[in-house]
Amino acid sequence: MNQEIVDALNAQIGHEYENYMLYEQASAYCDDRGLDGAAKLFRKQADGELEHARKVTDYVRDARGKVVIPIIKAQKSEFGSGEEVFLAAFEREKETTAKIYKIRDLAWKAGDHATFEMLTWFVNEQVEEENLTDKLLSVVRGFGEKHLFLIEAYISHLK
Ligand SMILES: [Fe+2]
Ligand SMILES: [Fe+2]
Repeated sequence: MNQEIVDALNAQIGHEYENYMLYEQASAYCDDRGLDGAAKLFRKQADGELEHARKVTDYVRDARGKVVIPIIKAQKSEFGSGEEVFLAAFEREKETTAKIYKIRDLAWKAGDHATFEMLTWFVNEQVEEENLTDKLLSVVRGFGEKHLFLIEAYISHLK
């Protein structure tokens, strides 16, 4: 791996940990409001983000790069509304997708087939992550802030 790709992958590890923290904050927000289903769903998402961070970490190790986890930024802990929480999740997933695409482009240009292939898993994962958070946001917007508890019923029907 060239150093530019190692650096980009290390930055992605940091980004995935930031995603983990954002989902933990979202989970805490929902828990605080008695939205147990949403709190559980965001906790599950948080666990997924930890797995993503580890997946990139393990790849860097396997490819004999040096793992350097960057400074992790504190995440938003105040939300003005339920909608804001779900919007933050959706916006973050779109941001993550853009970052994955950028590193994959970099790998392609460098002829780094191994990194390119490894990132294919993330490309597919992001389709699911964007779909889920976009749907949840639509449901929250549809029910309206006063009927946030209805989202619990919706979540209970998710696979
Ligand atoms: Fe992720
Ligand atoms: Fe994600």
